[in-house]
Amino acid sequence: MNKGKSLRGISLTKDHVAMLEFPVKARFSSLMTSEEIIWGELGEKGFANLVSAFYQRVKKDDLIGPMYPDDDWDGSEERLRDFLCFRFGAVMRYQEKRGHPRLRMRHMPYRIGIKERDRWMELMGGALDETVTHEEVREALRSFFTGVADFMRNRPEAER
Ligand code: HEM
Repeated sequence: MNKGKSLRGISLTKDHVAMLEFPVKARFSSLMTSEEIIWGELGEKGFANLVSAFYQRVKKDDLIGPMYPDDDWDGSEERLRDFLCFRFGAVMRYQEKRGHPRLRMRHMPYRIGIKERDRWMELMGGALDETVTHEEVREALRSFFTGVADFMRNRPEAER
C-alpha cells in the first residue's frame, strides 16, 4: 500500500515531496488543499500569464534584468512556468527537463541580497496584481513567493 502523500491523485514518493520544497501557508475555508485550490483557479494558462507578466517586468529591470541570459528569455519563462506547474499542479515537465529543482543551489551563481530579493518580489507582486483576480489565491501565492525569494538570499548584507 502506498503510504506516501498524494497530489491531485498522483501519489508522490519521498523525493517528490522533498521537491515541493516550500510550504504554501494559506488558510482557505475548504477541504481541498491549498495547491488544489490554486491550481483549480489558475491552471497552466493562469501560470503562463503570470510568468509572462513577470518576465515583461524583469526584462526592463535595471537591477535583476541583467542577471538573466539576454538571448534566452523564452527559456527563462519556460523554466519558471514549468516549475510552478510542477509545484502546484504536479505536472512533471520541469522535472523531466531539469531534474530536481535544487533552487537554492541553482541561484548560487547570482548575487541575491535583500535588494535583489525585494526587487524580484516587487516585480512578481505587480504580475500577481495584473493577472490573478481571485484575492485569496493571489495572497497565498504572494506569501509563497515571499518565502522562497527570502530563501534564495545567498549574500550576507555585510558583503555589500
Ligand atoms: C530572490 C530573487 C531571485 C532572483 C534574483 C532570481 C534570479 C534567477 C536567475 C538569474 C535565474 C537564471 C536564469 C534562468 O534560468 O532562467 C533564475 C532561475 C530560476 N529561478 Fe530565480 N530568482 C529569484 C527568485 C526565485 C524564486 C522566488 C523562484 C520560485 C518561486 C525562482 C525560480 C527559478 C527557477 C525555477 C529558475 C530556473 C532553474 C533551472 O531549472 O535552471 N527564482 N533565477
